[in-house]
Amino acid sequence: MNLLNTNRRRFLELLTVSGLGLTAIPTLQAQEKGVVEHPLVDSPPVLQCPSETGMTVVWAVGIPATGWVEFGTEKGKLDQIASGEKNGLLPYHDRFLQIRLSGLKPNTRYFYRTATASFKYINAYKFERGEPEYSNVYSFVTLGTDKENSSFSVINDTHENQKTLKLLTERLKLLDSDYTVWNGDLVNSVENADQVVKAILRPAHSPFAAEHPLLFVPGNHDYRGNWSRNLELALPHWSLNDLRDQVTTRNFAIRNGSLALIGLDTGEDKPDHHPAWAGLAKFEPYRIAQRDWLERALNKPEIASAPFIVAFCHIPIFSSNPKANGGDSLQGFASFQRQAGNLWGPLLTKYGVQLVVCAHQHRFHFEPATPERTWAQVIGGGHAENAQVTVIHGRTKSGKLEVVVDELHSGNELGRWTFEKRTT
Ligand SMILES: [Fe+2]
Repeated sequence: MNLLNTNRRRFLELLTVSGLGLTAIPTLQAQEKGVVEHPLVDSPPVLQCPSETGMTVVWAVGIPATGWVEFGTEKGKLDQIASGEKNGLLPYHDRFLQIRLSGLKPNTRYFYRTATASFKYINAYKFERGEPEYSNVYSFVTLGTDKENSSFSVINDTHENQKTLKLLTERLKLLDSDYTVWNGDLVNSVENADQVVKAILRPAHSPFAAEHPLLFVPGNHDYRGNWSRNLELALPHWSLNDLRDQVTTRNFAIRNGSLALIGLDTGEDKPDHHPAWAGLAKFEPYRIAQRDWLERALNKPEIASAPFIVAFCHIPIFSSNPKANGGDSLQGFASFQRQAGNLWGPLLTKYGVQLVVCAHQHRFHFEPATPERTWAQVIGGGHAENAQVTVIHGRTKSGKLEVVVDELHSGNELGRWTFEKRTT
């Protein structure tokens, strides 16, 4: 057996271990040059931005390619195609493909698969197109109010730690929640496309969001790095229904069954005038804009009528410690976000939000609601070997919302609370 065949076999073995069923063969020439080659399809599909009538499918490719999504309401009959055209052009990219499925029916299961074809430009009149490669067939259910139960799981502060991601994605699979909220600090700083694919689109090689959509909530680290403004290639912004929302495209308010989920963005953990940002940050006006967005969101009929409302943001917005750093000092960094708490906290109370799920401190903590502040605040853990690694998961059943915090290193349950329906 020659060296090329040996290398092909080793590579195929690696792909089998990954469980992704990817098919690409690195050339011996590329290996000798030390060039990293990627397979045509470089991640499973990651569902995002769910609505009653739409869903966005994102996946990574390893070479310039086009792609589309085939879907339908029967597993053996994927008779519709979402081609993702924009201004007359079909998708074409060397690392990320992103296709929006629209015109779907609420509370309906759809089956789908992605199709990817390599596409090599030679010049304006000459190109080479490869045969399509198809993913497995997966399914998802669109949002709807006419269903009884709903659920979510929350992970946070994973910071690219693949060991932690393996633990978390295995637990996510067992929990099988409707949505996974990734509550910030997915990476240490955003440096390049390869890093984003590895840490976000195929964490521990898991198809973690191929059937249950990912809801991304930014953390302070996700805004750092010279590639951070490209993050939307992997993590699309929410679509604009209202021009007033142009600066708040990371916020979401969705309703599924009896549960409404709201995503807020606390931004950086230092003030905008901190020298570390050298004048490139405007998170303080952004938090003010989100206050207006939040009030509009809480007044939407499907949110206002939800029996349960849970909000998510990376940096906690409340601290019972009077000496805690509120993110408004040049010293240190925020342990909670005072401005966000002052702007959003009263609204969350006025509209009877029951729980705010936060992250950032890398340690579990719970603050119960008080008569003045109707919402409780729970904080998830971190990612290091000796840190608490948590999944916070909530589920509505029998007319109540039950929220549990599991710590994965010890196997201990850190907390469990039951919430009654909102009265506001
Ligand atoms: Fe953080």
